[in-house]
Amino acid sequence: MAPQISPSILSADFARLADDVALIADAADWVHVDVMDNHFVPNLTLGLPVVEALLKHSALPLDCHLMIEDPDRWAPQYAEAGAGSVTIHAEAAKAPIRTLRAIRAAGARAGLGVNPATPVEGLEDLLGEIDMLLLMTVEPGFGGQKFLDVVLPKIRRARALIKDRDLPVWLQVDGGVSAETIERCAEAGADVFVAGSAVYGADDPAEAVRALRNQAAAAGGGE
Ligand code: DX5
Ligand code: ZN
Repeated sequence: MAPQISPSILSADFARLADDVALIADAADWVHVDVMDNHFVPNLTLGLPVVEALLKHSALPLDCHLMIEDPDRWAPQYAEAGAGSVTIHAEAAKAPIRTLRAIRAAGARAGLGVNPATPVEGLEDLLGEIDMLLLMTVEPGFGGQKFLDVVLPKIRRARALIKDRDLPVWLQVDGGVSAETIERCAEAGADVFVAGSAVYGADDPAEAVRALRNQAAAAGGGE
């Protein structure tokens, strides 16, 4: 699969979300929406009402990343609302198989996310239940943090686990992904790249998206 770029609107202007999503509409593959509840992570962003409003204004599918406690209760509603992808965290879900199946049943791609210190070993049996594995490359909660190189070997191991099983699972990296770090992620086997500050901090966000995708493709991401 060709590398995909999912710009995070956490770094956009929350008072002008529709305008900021339109800026990347012709360049990006997804719009990454960071839902934070101030419990799973120490930050509070937005929830279902904002996602529902954004759906009416986005030509791109929404990639909803739920950094919340009790995703089992809330995640299916994001899928039912029309999100293209809904990712829950392995650390938070109490019934991940039921919730991942509910996301898929509602017509969305099901994602499973893990924090930097959470191993992927032990999640192998869930790979058949998911469409995307999200590896956090910063501690979740804020945009603009420094990429954690320590996660690179886990990206390689996760890619190998997916390949061994010959599953069509996308491997997403999120946090500190930029022109300086995207090649390392792509070489390690990631194929979906979230970028917040690297896109919305650029003078031309659409151009930044294209440049990131080209870099990832040149480095072998998505092969
Ligand atoms: C952090 C979020 C990320 C964040 C990435 O917890 O999950 O999606 O927006 O921002 P950057 O790309 O600036 O690290
Ligand atoms: Zn995110």
